Amino acid sequence: MELNILTLCYLIGSVTFILGLKMLSNPATARKGNLIAAGGMVIAILGTIFLYTDDAGNKLHNYGWIFGAIAIGTVIGTLAAKKVKMTAMPEMVSMFNGMGGACAALISIVEFNHIAHNVVPGFHQTYIPDGAKGILLIIIVGLIIGSVSFAGSMIAWGKLNGKVKDFSFKGQHIFNIVLLLVILGLATYLIGWIPENSSIVFYTIFFLSLLYGVFFVFPIGGADMPVVISLLNSFTGVAAACGGFLYDNKVMLTGGILVGAAGTLLTILMCKAMNRSLANVLIGSFGAKPTGGATTVTSEGSYKEISLSDAAVVMSYAHKVMIVPGYGLAVAQAQHACHDLEKLLEAKGVEVKYAIHPVAGRMPGHMNVLLAEADVSYEKLLEMEQANEEFPSTDVVLILGANDVVNPAAKTDTSSPIYGMPILDVELAKSVIVNKRSMKPGYAGIDNDLFFRPKTSMLFGDAKKVLQDLIGEIKNL
Ligand code: TAP
Repeated sequence: MELNILTLCYLIGSVTFILGLKMLSNPATARKGNLIAAGGMVIAILGTIFLYTDDAGNKLHNYGWIFGAIAIGTVIGTLAAKKVKMTAMPEMVSMFNGMGGACAALISIVEFNHIAHNVVPGFHQTYIPDGAKGILLIIIVGLIIGSVSFAGSMIAWGKLNGKVKDFSFKGQHIFNIVLLLVILGLATYLIGWIPENSSIVFYTIFFLSLLYGVFFVFPIGGADMPVVISLLNSFTGVAAACGGFLYDNKVMLTGGILVGAAGTLLTILMCKAMNRSLANVLIGSFGAKPTGGATTVTSEGSYKEISLSDAAVVMSYAHKVMIVPGYGLAVAQAQHACHDLEKLLEAKGVEVKYAIHPVAGRMPGHMNVLLAEADVSYEKLLEMEQANEEFPSTDVVLILGANDVVNPAAKTDTSSPIYGMPILDVELAKSVIVNKRSMKPGYAGIDNDLFFRPKTSMLFGDAKKVLQDLIGEIKNL
């Protein structure tokens, strides 16, 4: 009877994961989807703790440890999620993902020690029964993938918050390939031959996998971090699925496979958005800050500025205004002011829409989340392809703290690190107003010719302040 209830708990868990994931794909249902999936997870966890029995009929008994760990995790997780700034979200995702990888690796270590019996006291001589080869394979796969995911995510976390600098050396990619081959070779040796000193081989694989995770992420350029985090996320999913296999736990298996599949799909979609292959992301170093000091603006030529009152007039008398939000909008926390401007212009009969680039900001869906926070209607958000079709019929494009995603170098300059990335073709509109604080470059650290083009006018200042002043000017017209 108990087993049936547990199976039901797992079924509920699996169904709610799938349902939650589906709902996460739309901003209108995302919050509810997250709660539903979390609810399913709670049911699955409590079911396991109270209803699970092993083959010998033993139940779990170490409740103190289990609930102690859950309490610590809950407090840390809740505080971190409440405190985190929107701009620091990718770091947090990376850190939490790393923890998932670490859990998967620890499961492998615990289970290895369950099947490995020391025949001679001491660390070196380990006996693993031949019949355990299948289990050993899953343990090793979970160990390698979980460790790579943990170490890689920690480096990604450090790189995103500026604590870890980009680091690479000549021949690093060859070094990485050799390291990976050594890990795979040792794994084959351990599983195929089960040597007497299995523990040494096992912990060497563990150590080298951690090293591989570090060296795998170190040279990857800053702007490619989201792709790498998503890839590592899928690794963690696969590693967790290995745990599901080991424990014959259906919900862990389903959850792991879902995370693995979702992470892989997101990785592919992000690569597509930047028009690059995964291999190019992993060895391309796009977005790595140029070595040798601070970035400087090197573009020559002059740009023209527009005053607040002129910008107010141009926008008020336009038929259609397209707002292009970017990272600067998030930094300025100007989403509410932006929504106010939109409502004001619409009240004057101006059609207002938003053009959303898939990698605008610093995390997938960053602009969607930001604008949803300010209650901007989802129907007003255009994806890049749609927006590019609508620019020719747009009178004014208002760029708010975006830079790389509107940089024409991506289309014209073959030597540019962002060459090939699809961009928002804002120049197809009649006029372009760019709001940022200075002429400094964006994330990729490169100049933007758009600012010097005849159609473009610069409106300098912090996005929130500029929008508030713009609203004041329009009201006074
Ligand atoms: P960026 O190219 O990073 O440009 C942002 C611009 O905002 C900067 O040029 C900055 O210029 C301006 N800015 C900063 N603070 C501001 C403020 N308070 N008010 C007004 N402007 C402000 O942003 P983007 O166009 O959104 O492109 C995103 C970049 O990040 C891409 O290179 C992308 O590959 C990368 N990236 C994306 C993600 C994802 S998945 N979205 C994750 C990591 C990295 P000033 O300093 O002159 O103000």
